[in-house]
Amino acid sequence: MIISACSDYRAVAQRTLPPFLFHYIDGGAYAEHTLRRNVADLADVALRQRVLRDMSELSLRTQVLGEELAMPVALAPVGLTGMYARRGEVQAARAAAQHGVPFTLSTVSVCPLEEVAPAIDRPMWFQLYVLKDRGFMKNALERARAAGVSTLVFTVDMPVPGARYRDAHSGMSGPNAPFRRLLQAVTHPRWAWDVGLRGKPHDLGNISTYRGHPTGLADYIGWLGANFDPSIGWKDLEWIREFWDGPMIIKGILDAQDARDAVSFGANGIVVSNHGGRQLDGVPSTARALPAIADAVKGELAILADSGVRNGLDVVRMIALGADCVMLGRAFVYALAAAGGAGVSHLLELIEKEMRVAMVLTGARTISEISRDSLVQADPG
Ligand code: FNR
Repeated sequence: MIISACSDYRAVAQRTLPPFLFHYIDGGAYAEHTLRRNVADLADVALRQRVLRDMSELSLRTQVLGEELAMPVALAPVGLTGMYARRGEVQAARAAAQHGVPFTLSTVSVCPLEEVAPAIDRPMWFQLYVLKDRGFMKNALERARAAGVSTLVFTVDMPVPGARYRDAHSGMSGPNAPFRRLLQAVTHPRWAWDVGLRGKPHDLGNISTYRGHPTGLADYIGWLGANFDPSIGWKDLEWIREFWDGPMIIKGILDAQDARDAVSFGANGIVVSNHGGRQLDGVPSTARALPAIADAVKGELAILADSGVRNGLDVVRMIALGADCVMLGRAFVYALAAAGGAGVSHLLELIEKEMRVAMVLTGARTISEISRDSLVQADPG
């Protein structure tokens, strides 16, 4: 099969993965309205074509929180990545490092901090959920510092989990789930051999290191479910500063007032995100939410954005709407599931090429020249 776009990787991932894993990645919350809008609204953002402007010199380089990036892209934290490819976090982190962009390790990764950090030659980012078990959080922060993590990404849009109907239908959860997952694994032999057998241990590495015993998939759902903390507020984030003095990004901002509060708190960055449509279905797409947030806080902290980004044109659109850097979620995971680290590497190449075309044809020679002027303004009438 010829692979020329993220959608090709998605199709291969669907064939390769047992359905419970494919739908866990691909699905969103409730009726998936926000999931669809993320992609559709972004695609609707019209780029403004400019011509005859000598675009021979282009630079995609940028700086985010003091780090040099080859392009304004980072891999988003995605739980269970080591179930989509053998030791998947390590493979994805290596591909990101080769391309000069950050990889963000999820709290609920398969590979622990101590396995991923030494495998790459640039500092990685680490994502933490706000969990009731503060002992775990303190332990994770100390280990992150010891592993040389440069930036902490604090995800705050999960005080409760959004219901994902697909998970119950696919066998990820629901009746007879362990039996259904086993059946799906044996009917997907490539995955069963490569990841199911050779990719062990299938542990939640960061959590099992803390708890001192293996944490399997069933445990994962139980432990996380018991650990969401709906009582969380800005004041609860203060104590993190005692254990983490490096850059801190708040992930899951969708409202301009919350972005202002992040500035008052002293955050170094935010990720404008609706968690890829996996939390509150019905909230606006990031493409819709981002401009008002950028108007409220641009220049006061780093603005990252994700949800719905599938190609380099989408990256340029997000930057034109006000982001400084764009996170890839499903886009890199489909490529990883389909073709491992080589797939992620190829996807990043495609994104870079697409960005170059978009920049030449919108007349932006550098990332800072991409602005709302790069877009066709909506008709005021
Ligand atoms: C996620 N996301 C996520 N976010 C986070 O902060 N911690 C996590 O562990 C996870 N896990 C996770 C698993 C899967 C399978 C997906 C698809 C997503 C959300 C992720 O970081 C990002 O916000 C979205 O993926 C962005 O949307 P797109 O680009 O996937 O549409």
